[in-house]
Amino acid sequence: MISQETIDKIFDTSRIEEVVGDFVTLKKSGGNFKGLSPFGNEKTPSFYVSPAKQIFKDFSSGKGGNAVSFLMEHEQYTYPEALRYLAKKYNIEIEETGQSDEDKQLRSERESLFLINDFANTYFQKQLLETEEGKNIGLSYFKERGMTPETITEFQLGYSQQSKSAFADEALKNSYKAEFLEKTGLSKIDGDRKYDRFWGRVMFPILSHTGRVLGFGGRILKKDAKAAKYLNSPESEIYHKSKTLYGIFQAKSHLSKLDECFLVEGYTDVISLHQAGIKNVVASSGTSLTVDQISLIKRYTQNITILYDGDAAGIKASLRGIDMILEEGLNVQVLLFPDGDDPDSYSKKVSSTELKDYLKEERQDFLRFKSGLLLTEAGDNPLEKSKVAREIVLSIAIIPDALKRNAYVSECARVLKMDERVLFSELAQIMKAKAQERQRRPNQNEQGPPPGMEMVPQQRVATNFYLQEESLCWLLLNFGEKVCEFPTETEDGIEKIEETVGEHIITELVNDDLSFEDEAFQNIFKRYVEVFEKEERILKAEDFLKLEDQKIIDSVVNLISDKYELHNWQSRSITLPEKDAFVEVYTQEAVLRFKEKKTTQLISKIQSQLSEGSEDPNSQLKVLVQLNQLRVKINKKLKRIV
Ligand code: CTP
Ligand code: MN
Repeated sequence: MISQETIDKIFDTSRIEEVVGDFVTLKKSGGNFKGLSPFGNEKTPSFYVSPAKQIFKDFSSGKGGNAVSFLMEHEQYTYPEALRYLAKKYNIEIEETGQSDEDKQLRSERESLFLINDFANTYFQKQLLETEEGKNIGLSYFKERGMTPETITEFQLGYSQQSKSAFADEALKNSYKAEFLEKTGLSKIDGDRKYDRFWGRVMFPILSHTGRVLGFGGRILKKDAKAAKYLNSPESEIYHKSKTLYGIFQAKSHLSKLDECFLVEGYTDVISLHQAGIKNVVASSGTSLTVDQISLIKRYTQNITILYDGDAAGIKASLRGIDMILEEGLNVQVLLFPDGDDPDSYSKKVSSTELKDYLKEERQDFLRFKSGLLLTEAGDNPLEKSKVAREIVLSIAIIPDALKRNAYVSECARVLKMDERVLFSELAQIMKAKAQERQRRPNQNEQGPPPGMEMVPQQRVATNFYLQEESLCWLLLNFGEKVCEFPTETEDGIEKIEETVGEHIITELVNDDLSFEDEAFQNIFKRYVEVFEKEERILKAEDFLKLEDQKIIDSVVNLISDKYELHNWQSRSITLPEKDAFVEVYTQEAVLRFKEKKTTQLISKIQSQLSEGSEDPNSQLKVLVQLNQLRVKINKKLKRIV
């Protein structure tokens, strides 16, 4: 855990215009900065950064937040990752709390592994570009395969010498520990005998989505060699093959921008497509696709297109991949390259435009792909055809979303020219069998609603209170500290009492035990009250922007954005110079309107209980009378002020 002091320091030091400026070209526009939204493809800028408020607001996508939320959104960092990024950018030392010695050791071991991988990565690149052997053997190999210098730099390709211990010698000479050479699998050390895993190979560093070196793939250069074509780093504390996607670092911004991910098999497929201008591409690197890899893609886009070889193995892998992707709730398309070609070799045969057209025209929805594949085998035989239908409906049954499932069944009926009802009943049978299966093994698939229940839309009661709650939160965040005179009932009649806006709203709402319906507003209010009661401190918008909860941040950004403020005053025809004086009235009005609505809600609830037959109608009627009196009183007060 990063200590609160460090978090505060990071927030105090970071300047959002600098942080965003590293990713987006910003132009000064009044007191703000303006730029093209990095979250979409727009032509006129609708992305704003406010240095005064330290927030950004993107009007094209509705996203907004502070420097940390920007990094979480744009770079897909987790909250701690974003904090660490900023700490690094601003040279802030991170103080950790609540770490056991074991945690600390693990953390420092991971750091050591990253350090040595980083050293190795630089070393291999230097070997490739600056040594005679590297240039003659490694660089000429890459050039022969058509890779440009830019590509080689972007993918940080390297070369490991023919000599069997050159890297280990260099690393030890630079005080890297043998222990970590072993743990990263870069070299084996046995007393005086040292042996580099990757000697004599060209190197492909495997980077995390944040650009750290997790491991390497090394390709042999000789064609007829008995040794494996590729060697990879072994599993370690920092490298888990099944959780990694090759190319994710170079692809990630393109994945979200283009809202699609091409999935290929190999290192060179990623690199060649990238060079041909198709940059939203990652590889599962020879392993069959895993759920972790799909989740990694899901951070950026819901749409995956599988690009595999057209051979039998490629087809089999695609079918397996399709079902896994469907199960994760993503959309999947497939494109197989002509037998004997992979994306890398194919991209060398055609121009970049031809390649893009090919991708656009040849890819198929999983349903068409699968039926096309199976139908060629089935021919016109009706029995075979119904088997094909069942195969496809089996895939459809995996999709978690019921609406999507139904749409696909209809589509399937069209493609196979079969009766829709037959297929729906097939689907129902499969779903039922699955449900029974789940019941037998209750521990599995616990998450997610039971089958059939997904169709029921989430009961989202439109909150009638939204506007009132919004006004109250807006006052809390923007004028919480302002002292006003609020009329208050005392024994001697109505007296004016000096109070802050924050205090007034808290007392009025807490005394009547009132809460907000909107989740984010309620969280804001709860926190506001907590801190006030404990520390007598009025929280400000900045305090909320430091939190990890994106829903709160979204609400706060909206509440403090100029647009909201302007709208609020203009809709009441209040000119800005008057607004300070108006806060007093507005606060009272907002509180009363909220209470009036709450009372009305209670009244109609009791009325409907009474009409349905109540167990204790007499006491309910009494409450009803009291509530009605209360409502009249509130309305009188409202009339007095507005
Ligand atoms: N792979 C591996 N070990 C091997 C063979 C393959 O790890 N012995 C992985 C690599 O990540 C490789 C991917 O599987 O990129 C796909 O393998 P393949 O199609 O055989 O290689 P290509 O990527 O086509 O490599 P090249 O074009 O250099 O032959
Ligand atoms: Mn290849």
